[in-house]
Amino acid sequence: MKNTSKLDFTISYLKPFEVDEFFPVFAKVLKTQFPGYSLVIINYFLEKIYTPNSFKYWLTTGWRFVFIAKVEGKIVGFAVVDRPYGGVCFCRWLGVLPDYQKKGIGKKLISAWLDYGKEYGCHKAEIASQPEAKEFYLRCNLDLEGERKVSYFGIDQFIFGKVLGKPKDEVMIKD
Ligand SMILES: CC(C)(COP(=O)(O)OP(=O)(O)OC[C@H]1O[C@@H](n2cnc3c(N)ncnc32)[C@H](O)[C@@H]1OP(=O)(O)O)[C@@H](O)C(=O)NCCC(=O)NCCS
Repeated sequence: MKNTSKLDFTISYLKPFEVDEFFPVFAKVLKTQFPGYSLVIINYFLEKIYTPNSFKYWLTTGWRFVFIAKVEGKIVGFAVVDRPYGGVCFCRWLGVLPDYQKKGIGKKLISAWLDYGKEYGCHKAEIASQPEAKEFYLRCNLDLEGERKVSYFGIDQFIFGKVLGKPKDEVMIKD
């Protein structure tokens, strides 16, 4: 997929052999762009849960996958997406390196995720937003569905969603 805005970037699926290039970008965004999480929590994510080996495992088994944004061949942004469950496609992490923010990349990653959900046959897409990203999701035309106070790992979260179609039994029991 190629975009036509001033900054030339592409969106593609992260491949297992690209995980070692992707991981420092993921780590940088988590460490610098999620002020609500303490360093202890960020290190827990990076060292225990979302490790390079876990990403390789998820990508090869299909349990999770990642859309990446590249500028001049370099990874600058990502959307980490869970395999759809119950007809719902959940975006687990979304981030763009600070130097590349506000250039349309985040919005394109959201489109790629929603398009994927529609193609899969999902009836819904959902995401939990840190407070700092609320405005961005509103601008992406996602629906604000609620607020969770002091939620997972201690932060307030805004729940955003988009209805993509009617629930279909065959999709909800697919995997
Ligand atoms: C949130 C984030 C992914 C947005 O990516 P981005 O590439 O900067 O977003 P875009 O350039 O596509 O912006 C799309 C629209 O949202 C607006 N926007 C982006 N970030 C915004 C912010 N923090 N506050 C208000 N508006 C914002 C843009 O101005 C643009 O508006 P427009 O469509 O009216 O022109 C990025 O800022 C980021 O990585 N933030 C830190 C991590 C984070 O919060 N991730 C989401 C966590 S749940």
